[in-house]
Formats: sequence, structure tokens, C-alpha cells
Amino acid sequence: MLEQTFTMIKPDSVERGETGRILARMETAGLVIKRLKMLHLSPEEARQFYHMHAGKPFFEHLVAYISAGPVCAVVLEKEDAIRELRALVGATDPAEADEGTIRREFGLDNRRNAVHASDAPETAREEIAFFGLTLSREA
Ligand code: CMP
Repeated sequence: MLEQTFTMIKPDSVERGETGRILARMETAGLVIKRLKMLHLSPEEARQFYHMHAGKPFFEHLVAYISAGPVCAVVLEKEDAIRELRALVGATDPAEADEGTIRREFGLDNRRNAVHASDAPETAREEIAFFGLTLSREA
């Protein structure tokens, strides 16, 4: 089934100038870019985006990290896009991610892991809406 998912390239990867290379990995895998924008989340917005992790020991560090600079927010489309993107992105900790995955190539540690990728249809819908990527006409 043709499906949409959401990915966010994290601030340190954007700052290192890796946005284009990460997007190229996704496009090469057949994921089509439907929407894309750069934006800088406030700490409050970062808290909202990662609400499911509130209370975890790393939560405040995660909020500070994600709100430290601009991110690249992207809607991608493909058959089975959610599963395909998660496989391409790899495990949360880049040290545990398989060879050939984005996190293995671009991630630094389990916080600075290059990208976020939606884990299920409901979260993909929520995250696309959170970033205001649903309003205008389809690309
Ligand atoms: P992401 O897939 O965006 O979802 C939650 C994020 O929290 C995760 O990627 C990492 O950036 C971060 N994270 C997850 N586990 C840890 C951890 N143990 N320590 C620090 N950061 C973490």
C-alpha cells in the first residue's frame, strides 16, 4: 500500500552539511519527497514532539539537543514507506545499526543519531500534522 512517513534530519547533521547526502540516501531507496521544510523548534515544541519520551532520563537532554538548531522536516512516500524508512535508518544507537544504514554512516551516538523516522501509521500522521506539512496542495 502506498504510504506516507515522516523523517526529521537532526540539528547537528544539518549543521555539518549532511542534509543533502541523507536525503539522497532516502531518494535512492525509492522514497519520494512530498514535502520538505527547514525549521528551528523551540524547547516547548521539542517537548511536544517527543512527548512519548517525557519522564525518561534522557528527555531534557533530547529536548535541548533537538531545539539547538534548525532541523529538516520531510514527508516521504512509497509502498510500505514506514517500514522501509525504518530499515534504511537503522537502530537508535549508531554503534548497533547495521552496515549501510543512515545512522551507521551519519550518527555519532544514541542521542545524536542523525535522523528521526516515524514508527507507525498513527505516529506518522501525528508527526506530519505537528510540522504543519498537511495544509497545502499535494506535490
Ligand atoms: P528518535 O528516533 O528521534 O527518538 C527518540 C530519540 O531520543 C532518539 O531518536 C535519540 O535521539 C534519543 N535517545 C533515545 N535513547 C536515548 C538514550 N539512551 N540516551 C540519549 N538519547 C536517547
